[in-house]
Amino acid sequence: MCGIVGYIGRLDAAPLLLEGLSRLEHRGYDSAGVAVLAPSGLKVARRAGRVRDLQEAMPRRFGGRAGIGHTRWATHGPATDANAHPHVDATGRVAVVHNGILDNAAALRAELTADGVELASDTDTEVVAHLIGRSGAETLEEKVAEALARIDGTYGLAVVHADVPDRIVVARHGSPLIIGVGDHEMHVASDLAALVRYTTTVAHLEDGEIATVTAAGFTTYRADLTHAPRAATEVDVDPSSYDVDGDDHMHRELLDQPAAAERVLRGRLDERFGTAHLGGLNLEPRETRAIRRVKVLGCGSAFYVGQMGASLVEELARIPADAEAASEFRYRNPVIEPDTLYVAVSQSGETIDTLLAVQEIRRKGGRVVGLVNVVGSAIAREVDGGIYLHAGPEVAVASTKALTTMYLGFVLLALQLGRVRDLSVAEGKRLVAGLQALPGLVQQVLDDSDALVDVAHRLAAADSLFFVGRVRGYPVAREGAQKFKEVTYRHAEAYPTSELKHGPLALVSPDVPTVAIVPADELTERNVAALHEISARGGPLVVVTHAEVDLGELERGACTRIDVPRSERELDPILMTIPLQLLALHAATHLGLDVDKPRNLAKSVTVE
Ligand code: F6R
Repeated sequence: MCGIVGYIGRLDAAPLLLEGLSRLEHRGYDSAGVAVLAPSGLKVARRAGRVRDLQEAMPRRFGGRAGIGHTRWATHGPATDANAHPHVDATGRVAVVHNGILDNAAALRAELTADGVELASDTDTEVVAHLIGRSGAETLEEKVAEALARIDGTYGLAVVHADVPDRIVVARHGSPLIIGVGDHEMHVASDLAALVRYTTTVAHLEDGEIATVTAAGFTTYRADLTHAPRAATEVDVDPSSYDVDGDDHMHRELLDQPAAAERVLRGRLDERFGTAHLGGLNLEPRETRAIRRVKVLGCGSAFYVGQMGASLVEELARIPADAEAASEFRYRNPVIEPDTLYVAVSQSGETIDTLLAVQEIRRKGGRVVGLVNVVGSAIAREVDGGIYLHAGPEVAVASTKALTTMYLGFVLLALQLGRVRDLSVAEGKRLVAGLQALPGLVQQVLDDSDALVDVAHRLAAADSLFFVGRVRGYPVAREGAQKFKEVTYRHAEAYPTSELKHGPLALVSPDVPTVAIVPADELTERNVAALHEISARGGPLVVVTHAEVDLGELERGACTRIDVPRSERELDPILMTIPLQLLALHAATHLGLDVDKPRNLAKSVTVE
């Protein structure tokens, strides 16, 4: 959510900043801006709209070898040129870009206004520029530290000052800030994606730290400016995997799912003992046996996958397990139990609500492991152990392949926990074989998806839809509704199929289609009976099911079936989610919408 870049070195900064911003645009795309330390002083260009709009609007002469840039997701004030970052102080000599939210911005704005400062924007960030600009401290670092001491809230920020053009000062509290070390040049970014093309030698600032970055290197300090030595390390990533140029990200990421499934499973399956090996969990068998409860925490789609995963852990490992929205967790002052295994699940590893839940658990002495995609991200660094999902970079705001790998991460976790407890070797081997075949089946769902396009076009015509499923199918329905509403802006609501008759059935009509998840399992009959109740009221149906499920009379009415291949029942949630992703994608494309950058949203929610 919002992206920061910075550069200082031998080259012209502006083109590098713009290139970095385009790599971060999925994190916020309502406005963008850059500030460059030119020989004649500070130059700032900013604009509502996309990075390409900024690029087109930039003056031709914008030379300078140091600068900062930002792509914004609005928190304080609408997306206008004036609210775009960088923000400058009254003298026009200080420029600041900021990710996060300042909680006491209103009070500081009032104080500055009372002091005669004319605020040029509605943002919280602008106060930081003024506080720095008005500081009587000697060095830029001291000015920044003094300003930070006055603000409450979260920030990742980068500051330049025309009077000290040899440096960028950066600081972090709650929002990531990474320094990349090059050859006589340095990069700054809120996300590895922006700098990995130039260097893989990086240092992650910790909360409460400030750093001075010059072309020759960097120095880190604590908030009181005492030295906090921090060395840069090599990150083990393939820079080319961050080459996410072009458009069509959601579609490409959706199609990458068979390969992503292979990546998350690679080297982790044990055919002989019918189990999984997840060394990174740091859990000894004796500790595993002592676990009395599993609690999964995640947000949005990661929470829905967490629900799927929790029921799987309960079923296979026979440990009571549930999932909770991480965004709510710490506000109810949860009891942290020593024999509970907490599992934080996150694609970005940066979602602030999930990160704060992890910190709350650890502060109270609980043990938390992570299922995280982004290597070296804040959650990955904070947990006691975990597994990386190896989904590869996910750029589209609507998550697809990361969710598939999250679910597979849960299957592996449930298998490992189960096999240390009461899951038989035969059951374990059945699942291992199912997992080995899964990438091929995912490919089959994608290959057979042409017929879905028409169905999606029909669904796109509805203003409102239901998604329903039972037990394992209910979080699948929730995720289906989430994906559909995110990219089509249609009202899509998920219910347990069994709950329809307790209220929502009142809304069923020929104009309100229902997408139902009906696997061939012990609940098929009950599911089909509920679908009759919808059909009897004229509600059109799209049923995601298996070929052997007999829908009987339903198929004579307004009912379309989408058959997915059979696998082990525990893997149905993946194979049944993929058609729902495709329905959302094709419906949104049909409506002429930008599926990669849906309105009001951004990738990685780093504000509370
Ligand atoms: C939905 C979506 C969001 C994220 C949620 C958590 O398509 O992308 O609901 O799943 O914001 O994000 P991560 O997984 O990065 O913690």
